[in-house]
Amino acid sequence: MRIAMIGTGYVGLVSGACLSEFGHEVVCIDKDQAKIAELNKGRVPIFEPGLDEVVAANARAGRLSFACDLSAAVSQADAVFIAVGTPSRRGDGHADLSFVFGAAEEIARALDGYTVVVTKSTVPVGTGRKVEDIIRKLRPTAEFDVASNPEFLREGSAIEDFRRPDRIVVGAETERARNVLKEVYRPLYLNETPIVFTSRETSELIKYAANAFLATKITFINEMADLCEKVGADVQEVARGIGLDGRIGGKFLHAGPGFGGSCFPKDTLALLKTSQDANAPVRIVETVVAVNESRKARMAEKIIEAFGGVKGKTIAVLGLTFKPNTDDMRDAPSLVIVPKLQAEGARIRAYDPEGAHEAKKVLEVETCEDAYEALAGADGVVILTEWNEFRALDLERVKGLLKKPLMVDLRNIYRPAQMAEAGFTYVSVGRATVG
Ligand code: UDX
Repeated sequence: MRIAMIGTGYVGLVSGACLSEFGHEVVCIDKDQAKIAELNKGRVPIFEPGLDEVVAANARAGRLSFACDLSAAVSQADAVFIAVGTPSRRGDGHADLSFVFGAAEEIARALDGYTVVVTKSTVPVGTGRKVEDIIRKLRPTAEFDVASNPEFLREGSAIEDFRRPDRIVVGAETERARNVLKEVYRPLYLNETPIVFTSRETSELIKYAANAFLATKITFINEMADLCEKVGADVQEVARGIGLDGRIGGKFLHAGPGFGGSCFPKDTLALLKTSQDANAPVRIVETVVAVNESRKARMAEKIIEAFGGVKGKTIAVLGLTFKPNTDDMRDAPSLVIVPKLQAEGARIRAYDPEGAHEAKKVLEVETCEDAYEALAGADGVVILTEWNEFRALDLERVKGLLKKPLMVDLRNIYRPAQMAEAGFTYVSVGRATVG
C-alpha cells in the first residue's frame, strides 16, 4: 500500500516511519527543504527514543522516503495522511487550521484515482467535513473519501505506542474508506488491536475527550495532593488506593507540577472553544484548565517557601522539559517556574539530559553538563522533570556539593524516609515534608 504523510513534525515522522515498518511504502512530505535534506541524510530532527533506528532501517529497505514534492507522492498514494501542525490560534485558543486546509487544497490538486485523505492531526469536530468540502470544490469529480484517524502517541514512548496501541480509532463515512484504513493497520488488526470505527465527528471528538479526561485525572490527583499536604495524608498511597479500583485505573494519577506538553494544554483549550461554540459547556474541563494554569505558579511559591526566600540564592534545577525522554519544552512547567524564581532574585543553574538546547531558546538560564555540576555550590536542588538519571543520584555526593541539604522534588521520585535518613530536608508533592 502506498502512503503519503503530509508534515514531518512529531506525529508525521513517527507515524510515517512506523507505517513503513508495517511494510507500506511511505513518502513523508514537508515544505521545509532543509529538514527534508537532513532526513534524507538519515538525520532525525527530534529526540524520540528508537525513532532514528526505525527511520534508518526502513529508509535502507526502500520503504520510507522524504520529499518536498507533495503532488508526486499524493498522486500515487492509496492513503494520504494530513499530519501538519494545529497550534493554538493566538488570542482565542481555537486550533489554527490554516496548515490543514492549505494541505487539503494541495492534495486536491494532486489526487489521481481513488484516495482516502486521513486527518491525523488533532482537529476540532467538523474539520473532516470541511476538508472534504475544500477538496470537492476544487476537484468536483475526484474519487476520494475523507476519514479521521487520531493519534494517541506519547512523546518519549511514541514508537512503542504506535506498535502496540490500546486501540485504533477510525472515523469514516464509507465502507471503501474503512477498508483502506483496515488495510493500513492490518498488522495491528492481526495482533487483535481493537479498531473502533465511528463517524468522522465522533472520531474527532474521541481524541479531545481522551486528552481532556487524562488531563482531568492528573488535575484531580494534583488537587488531592494539596489536600494530602494539609491533612497529613500521602498522595502516592491515595493514588494506589484508588487506582487499584478497576473502574478508576492506576495510570495518570501521578501528582506533580501540573501537566504540560504539546497536547494537553492545547487540546483542552480547543475543546473549550468547541463546547462554547456548540453552547454545551464542559465546566469540568474549564476548571481543569484554570487549576492547571495556576498550579505552575503555585509550585514556584512552594519552592520559594522551602528555600525561605530565594533572593541571592543559587538553585540547582534538574529537568526542564515537560516530561522525560523528550527535548520538548512546549508548555513545560519550568517555563513558569524558572522565570518566577529568577524574578524573585534566584540564580538558576539547570541541567536537562536532552532539553538544554531547546530550553535555551525559551528560557534565559545557565545550563550545565551534568547534574552534579549544577549542584556544585547551590543552596538547594529542585527536581522539575523525572528523568531516570535523577532517580538514583549519589545522595552523599549531592549533600557534599550543596550548601544545605535541601531538595524540592516536584515529581516525587524519592521516598521521604530515605531522604530523611540521608539527612536532607525533603519537600515533595502531596506528602509530608521531612528533615
Ligand atoms: C499526551 C497523551 O498521553 C497522548 O495520548 C496524546 O496523543 C498526546 O498527549 P504527551 O503529551 O506526550 O501525550 O505526554 P503524557 O505522558 O501524556 O504527559 C502529559 C503531561 O502530563 C506531562 O506534563 C506529564 O508530566 C503530565 N503527567 C502525566 C502528570 O503530571 N501525571 C501523570 O500521572 C501523567
